Amino acid sequence: MKPLTIAIDGHSSTGKSTLAKQLAKELGYVYVDSGAMYRAVAFNALQNGWVSKEQGALADQINAHLDDLVIDFELDADGKNTTLLNGEIVEEAIRTMEVSNVVSHVAKLVPVRRRLVALQQQMGENGGVVMDGRDIGTVVFPNAELKIFMTASDEVRAGRRKAELDAKGQYHSLEDVLENLKSRDKADMERADSPLIAAEDARTLDNSAISREEQFQLVLSWVSELKG
Ligand code: DC
Repeated sequence: MKPLTIAIDGHSSTGKSTLAKQLAKELGYVYVDSGAMYRAVAFNALQNGWVSKEQGALADQINAHLDDLVIDFELDADGKNTTLLNGEIVEEAIRTMEVSNVVSHVAKLVPVRRRLVALQQQMGENGGVVMDGRDIGTVVFPNAELKIFMTASDEVRAGRRKAELDAKGQYHSLEDVLENLKSRDKADMERADSPLIAAEDARTLDNSAISREEQFQLVLSWVSELKG
């Protein structure tokens, strides 16, 4: 049987990438973190002074320089997924609050989305892929065999994100982390082009009160069902 295409969308910090990586490993599929690609474009814009939290994005500048950006993934020595921008490792640099605070301004630009969606479709063209993001089941792979829409309570999400940042020595208050999550969700759901919305045929997964393992087993049962 042809390998599946698995699309995982949902709100910020709902554990999409954790689930996607677990599934890719178990099934021997490729994992693609589409959010890392938007973060890489935002990181580059930030470095060039083309975006700020308060003023938004200089769309013309960002759009005009998209051809200069080569975004890629590789596995590091520990088998960890790593994002490359023009050949340089930016995995850590794209996950700071500074980038989180501006990424929505960049992710709403239509030329940026067109470019990244085309790249994502190319990466998954042979199936056997687990991709997580906001528009994977609706825009990138509308024919994906399995679509999951993840959500969790604000408190659970903010607690998770804060723990992730703390572990990297990036200390921010819970209020700031929650404010960032909520404002990104709002921007993602309200943007005109490919807003965050559950695909009609997506299975909703609220993981506020289930363990990572329970969630994994549930999704594996969905995969088995589809594989027949
Ligand atoms: O998954 P993440 O939080 O790392 O994604 C970063 C931002 O990129 C998120 O706030 C919204 C945007 N994004 C998007 O618009 N479309 C995607 N497919 C993935 C992410």
